[in-house]
Amino acid sequence: MSNIIVLGAQWGDEGKGKIVDLFSERFDIVARYQGGHNAGHTVYIGSNKYVLKLIPSGILRPGKLAVIGNGVVVDPAALMEEIETLERVGIDVRTQLAISNRAHVILPYHRLVEKISEDSPDRVKIGTTARGIGPAYEDKIGRRGIRIADFIDPKAFAQAYPALRRDKQAVARAFGITTQDDDVLERYQELAGRIKPMVRDTAVLLNDAVRAGKRVMLEGAQGTMLDIDHGTYPFVTSSSAAAGGACTGTGLAPTRINGIIGVSKAYITRVGGGPFPSESLDSYGDRIRKAGNEFGSVTGRPRRCGWFDVPLLKYTAAVNGFDSLIVTKLDVLDEIEEIKVCVAYKIDGELIEDMPPRVEDLARVEAVYETVPGWMSSTHGAKRYQDLPLAAKNYVSFLQERTGVEVGCVSTGPERNQTMVLRGTRLEKLIG
Ligand code: GDP
Ligand code: IMO
Ligand code: MG
Repeated sequence: MSNIIVLGAQWGDEGKGKIVDLFSERFDIVARYQGGHNAGHTVYIGSNKYVLKLIPSGILRPGKLAVIGNGVVVDPAALMEEIETLERVGIDVRTQLAISNRAHVILPYHRLVEKISEDSPDRVKIGTTARGIGPAYEDKIGRRGIRIADFIDPKAFAQAYPALRRDKQAVARAFGITTQDDDVLERYQELAGRIKPMVRDTAVLLNDAVRAGKRVMLEGAQGTMLDIDHGTYPFVTSSSAAAGGACTGTGLAPTRINGIIGVSKAYITRVGGGPFPSESLDSYGDRIRKAGNEFGSVTGRPRRCGWFDVPLLKYTAAVNGFDSLIVTKLDVLDEIEEIKVCVAYKIDGELIEDMPPRVEDLARVEAVYETVPGWMSSTHGAKRYQDLPLAAKNYVSFLQERTGVEVGCVSTGPERNQTMVLRGTRLEKLIG
């Protein structure tokens, strides 16, 4: 019985939601382990579109359990809004969802201090999603955060809140900002009462479930290049998006994980600031953005687009130990005559092997490209590998060979069935 992690191999938005939704049919529990409502995981089921932010994509399968793990930061207002949106379309969220009692809470003052930081001329502008994610994790690591277990205890929350609010207001005042937030405690106590029935010790729940023979899929948010440790720091999110975060962020023991699956686009995108060696600033970038509808599912921001980056993928494969790679959005390249692939980096004319740790260096690497012929025909919706045009198969083989990671699945459209799991792969075994 295998338990797997499915996570982003690039800078996020790789199509994790679609893949997790597809595979969730074969798993009993889907758990998120980090991030918060900065994520936007899009799932199409027939003509219905769902964008999941905090709630694991497994919620869309009746009877499956969805877990928000301890590593997630939960904005109670955003959570209730998401629950109600899903309930309006008939999803039985409250019986299917379990929220960790150890997850930390995002409160309005977190958004306030994030805005101050992002607007400040003296600080690096990260281009965040403005959801309060970073400041909530700062409080967690600073050991002053409010956890769900305290949040749902009216006395504990009322005791902890004023001091934290005072701290954040002092920061706001120093930047000349005054706020009207007198009703926050009351409003959030009411939200806490609504969340309480879904709160569990999810680490115990997950480990018990695995012992009882249930299958668990851990769903990453963001991507490895946005990981706080392994990403392009400081242009990262504030959590451990890479595979290591899946165990700390759920309490599921590392010995219980049987497979780690990376999701990457057939090209690459990035939202927000930070270096991007294979970014295509010419008309190809625009063509990919248009064909791939590359606009943020949460913020609507246009995504920066570029060519598949082999050194980056090798790096994320190494830090995650990918067993298999899923290549999504192959169909987006259908009309590109010649497809470029970044196969190496050069700095000062020298080829480099490792990912530079400093963004200043990554910003000045020169991407070395190889060009492969496009297929100039539609792969959209293809379900069988043998139906792909030869040039498309060659492209998939090229990515597999250069990255050194098995390509176990190819996605050719946003819908569940527009996907092919390749025969005889490790992926097929892991999800089988
Ligand atoms: P996530 O954050 O990794 O779940 O990805 P997003 O949902 O933010 O962005 C991926 C977008 O691509 C969504 O709109 C998906 O519906 C869409 N998508 C996923 N796989 C494919 C695919 O193979 N082809 C096409 N054309 N769209 C896809
Ligand atoms: P999914 O799960 C793409 C980016 C933001 C910004 C940086 C920090 O849908 O793949 P944050 O608000 O997290 O402090 O912002 O991280 N970012 C994402 N980019 N996909 C995401 O999630 C992202 N979540 C955060 O654009 O550059
Ligand atoms: Mg997304």
